[in-house]
Amino acid sequence: MIPSQRHLFDIPGDIAYFNCAYLGPLSNAAVVAGREATGRKARPWEIGSEDFFRETEIARGLFATLINAEEDDVALIPAASYGISVAARNTRLAAGQTVVVLAEQFPSNVYAWRESARRAGASVLAVERPAHGSLSRAVLDALDERTAIVALPHCHWADGALLDLESIARRCRELGASLILDVTQSAGVMPLDVKVIQPDFLVAACYKWLLGPYSTGFLYVAPHRQEGTPIEFSWRARRGSENFAGLVNYEDAYLPGARRFDVGECANFHTIPAVIAALQQILDWGVAEIAATLAARNADIAARAGSLELQSLDAGQRAGHFLGLGFERGVPETLLAQLRKANVYVSVRGNTLRITPHVYNNDADVERLMHALERAM
Ligand SMILES: Cc1ncc(COP(=O)(O)O)c(C=O)c1O
Repeated sequence: MIPSQRHLFDIPGDIAYFNCAYLGPLSNAAVVAGREATGRKARPWEIGSEDFFRETEIARGLFATLINAEEDDVALIPAASYGISVAARNTRLAAGQTVVVLAEQFPSNVYAWRESARRAGASVLAVERPAHGSLSRAVLDALDERTAIVALPHCHWADGALLDLESIARRCRELGASLILDVTQSAGVMPLDVKVIQPDFLVAACYKWLLGPYSTGFLYVAPHRQEGTPIEFSWRARRGSENFAGLVNYEDAYLPGARRFDVGECANFHTIPAVIAALQQILDWGVAEIAATLAARNADIAARAGSLELQSLDAGQRAGHFLGLGFERGVPETLLAQLRKANVYVSVRGNTLRITPHVYNNDADVERLMHALERAM
């Protein structure tokens, strides 16, 4: 268990922030790194051509470590939707085939597939949540010989409903279907090993559980997909691009691995140092340790919410870092405002109150949350 890390964040004692699934806070170290980084751009004569490559390679390597990939397998992207667009550009879909997603899945991993399906004469099949039984079973039941693409998260963004990616990935391989994962709501707080799951593409935006800046993210590209076509044609992704004087000699060959998919201007002087600080901190804490800590925090809240007659998915059915509290007659309209008045920050998604802590939360935050909930009910 990781003791509360509040001292590493700029979160006042009277704020109970349980909304990491919305926006993760930058740590103090990431803020310092970001400030220094912005200052560097005020002195451009100190920025050399090597700086367009050095820090992006460090960030690439840190994300690779997080998911047990190789540095070469990772591209830098500005948003999950960008990475999914790369995946859509590089996966085949034919008339009559299906793309399987979850019902009410986050749209960044849906719209690109709707567009691909429309063009191909294929269809998007959204797997509904079964009233009883497991969501993973429902996904497995939806996979058949028509399935070309399976585009999923590790857990649902509204209430954390968990998917058994190992079983689903195995079935995808049997069917020859591509597996595309959006782990924005789980990267850094749920262990995931790409050598075990073997997705074709995997994306994660950094601004939630990775505690990084906005407009930063990563795309994992399986080795057998790295010869694909990018969705834009950045000069920096070409072989020899570090020789700025030689850029007029146009080059067809790309940099090795997934670097061809890097977004243009990925060497962002303002954000990459903060990304590095954030990822280093996550790796220092350890993903398994973070997962265990947040699961215990949410188990405590779930048990106490039970006495207020708020339901949540059983611990085995949801990701430990997510807690969705369900209200029998819908979330009361004024609840969020009442909680905010008490300095309690959570989200409403669909019919659930979404509680998403991180290691900066402490016992006093839980007391504040429970108190405010009790008063509001
Ligand atoms: C599952 C999931 N993916 C992605 C995102 C963000 O998408 P994008 O980076 O495309 O803005 C969110 C934001 O809530 C999300 O919940």
